[in-house]
Amino acid sequence: MEYGTIVLSREIPIAIIRLNRPEAYNALNMQMVHEIVDALDKLEEDEGVRCIVLTGNDKAFSAGADIKEMINLSSVDLIRTGHFLPLWNKVGNYSKPIVAALSGYVLGGGLELAMSCDVLVASENTKLGQPEINIGVIPGGGGTQRLTRAVGKYKAMEMILTGSMITAEEALRLGLVSRVVPANSYLDEAKKVALEISSKSPLALKLAKEAVNRAFEISLQEGLSFERKNFFLLFSSEDKKEGMNAFLQKRKPEFKGR
Ligand code: CAA
Repeated sequence: MEYGTIVLSREIPIAIIRLNRPEAYNALNMQMVHEIVDALDKLEEDEGVRCIVLTGNDKAFSAGADIKEMINLSSVDLIRTGHFLPLWNKVGNYSKPIVAALSGYVLGGGLELAMSCDVLVASENTKLGQPEINIGVIPGGGGTQRLTRAVGKYKAMEMILTGSMITAEEALRLGLVSRVVPANSYLDEAKKVALEISSKSPLALKLAKEAVNRAFEISLQEGLSFERKNFFLLFSSEDKKEGMNAFLQKRKPEFKGR
């Protein structure tokens, strides 16, 4: 598939998906949604790729769903097609870690996309918000749920009801991003994190990600039980033997995902 709205590059063991509609602050349209999903499908099958970096450009990760494309859509259109559901499902249930490299505007569906990722590295000039209220709607890609879980009810309410943006520093204080870095290094820093993650066992990464995500769905006791089962499961992997042997032999482990 030829891509017109994203750029996919591989720097094995990582891959980078860059949102590429600079003329519209990387607003998400249907074409971009299909292309991101297609790229993620391919990368999920590619055993050489251990971690994905999802980024935009310096001015915008993404300013949200494309308002020009949405203006003529009716409820019936959305119900029939599911709109961006394939994207939310794909990123929200993705088996490999995704590091979001954020800069500039991260708004609406752009913030929802970022919040579906696993580690969020933000440039100091990042501005984050859910401005849907300004155009007469509400977040539709998980914003009311994921933002509330990330920052708590009162800050989420303020952001969603006023549509106001917060700075990267505020987002860091609130626990909405993992780290804030100088503007000229956000992509490099995100790649470094992705490389660090890539050096771990793919099996352990997959089960760790599953377990952390479960924390948002179920009770503590059920979550502890889920975690324990994943922990026990990993003891049958070659990667567990390799990791523990490498530690005792004072060498770097070589994980194979077996
Ligand atoms: N959709 C479509 N086009 C957009 C866009 C969007 N979300 N955001 C920016 N653009 C376009 C503008 O229309 C403009 O295009 P033209 O040059 O053709 O006029 C271009 O990008 C530059 O935008 P501005 O002139 O507005 O630039 P600015 O620097 O003054 O402001 C901004 C930047 C604060 C990001 C502003 O563009 C803005 O507020 N954008 C809309 C943000 C928004 O409301 N996002 C939520 C969308 S709804 C959603 O995401 C639903 C969901 O949950 C899935």
